[in-house]
Amino acid sequence: MIKVNCEPKVDTAKAAEILKDIAKDKMGGWFNLPRKFDMGELMRVKEAAKKIAEESEVLVCIGIGGSYLGHRAIIEALRPKSEVKIVYAGNSLSRRELDHALKLVGSHDFSVNVISKSGTTLEPAIAFNEFKKKLIEKYGEEEAYSRIYATTDKKEGALHDEAVACGYTKFVVPDNIGGRYSVLTSVGLLPLAVAGVDIDKLLEGAADAAENSVEPAVKYAWERYELGSKGLDTEVFASFEPSTMYFNEWLKQLFGESEGKGGQGVFPASVIYSTDLHSLGQFMQDGRRNLWETIIDYPTDEMNAKVVSAVRVAHRDGGIPVLDITVPSFDEQGFGELVYFFELSCAISAKLFGVNPFDQPGVEAYKSELKKLI
Ligand code: PA5
Repeated sequence: MIKVNCEPKVDTAKAAEILKDIAKDKMGGWFNLPRKFDMGELMRVKEAAKKIAEESEVLVCIGIGGSYLGHRAIIEALRPKSEVKIVYAGNSLSRRELDHALKLVGSHDFSVNVISKSGTTLEPAIAFNEFKKKLIEKYGEEEAYSRIYATTDKKEGALHDEAVACGYTKFVVPDNIGGRYSVLTSVGLLPLAVAGVDIDKLLEGAADAAENSVEPAVKYAWERYELGSKGLDTEVFASFEPSTMYFNEWLKQLFGESEGKGGQGVFPASVIYSTDLHSLGQFMQDGRRNLWETIIDYPTDEMNAKVVSAVRVAHRDGGIPVLDITVPSFDEQGFGELVYFFELSCAISAKLFGVNPFDQPGVEAYKSELKKLI
């Protein structure tokens, strides 16, 4: 069970109302997902992962934002063992990065998992074209298409239409789950399974949190809302485990896209300690007091744990509120719990701020401006 160290004055009737709202929201499919996971889809994911491992040395995961950060966060954190190396592409528009990804694949046997709910996002579309060309050159059209796994909408979008026309193996991003809440669907589960993460344990962790971590999620959401309402406009997520850097990135996307709208929200930032104590540590201790720190307290070694204790005391003395979120284990179970805990607290907190946690008008605005220019 995830633990938090704050005791805000929760309006329990309002909290129950918010939870009900989330559960019945048309984009609230992730809320009950761990309780009633589609076992048929899980089997298909495992079969596809097995086939990829049998015929490929590399899996190229193409996607951006919610179609990529969640699975990368867990893979980088847990560093699981797998014969298949994961190469990421389509998460920027830099030609240099794309060339680098193509070079990493080199002459290795490879498959491609292209992930885009809309099926029209430019970054993954450009990368996918390049890797599809490489697949066709290497294997010919028929085998190339059998090495493409498309995770996209059930019934529409350019990627959906192409997957149907070319016969790619297709996985569905459920209609009622948005990108940043989708890591526990096929969006995340296929790359995670290929990378050697135990996805059953991950889902068990999420189910555990859906059962036991609702109260801490409500408390954390309420505390953030109270701190935000006092004028603190920045939350700094602090982790003491360098391999969780991408988990911080996932958190920033989750909170930034869910809350930052209508002039509302708390700006999500992140640090990795002790590394950043030698850079941003100065600001945290003594800079402008417009922020609070949320320590994600993973189980760690004795020396590192001493740093956690020292930071907690020093930063409180420096005048910033420090919240603690205690993670029970540094494994699939722990990350399953953490993902569900943060999704839930983020949705509650956005509702408290009076915004819709499940849309992203700002991201859509960028996408449509870019399309006009290209
Ligand atoms: O959370 C979100 O909705 C976004 O970050 C999307 O995941 C991101 O923009 C990618 O969109 P798509 O999966 O449609 O390519």
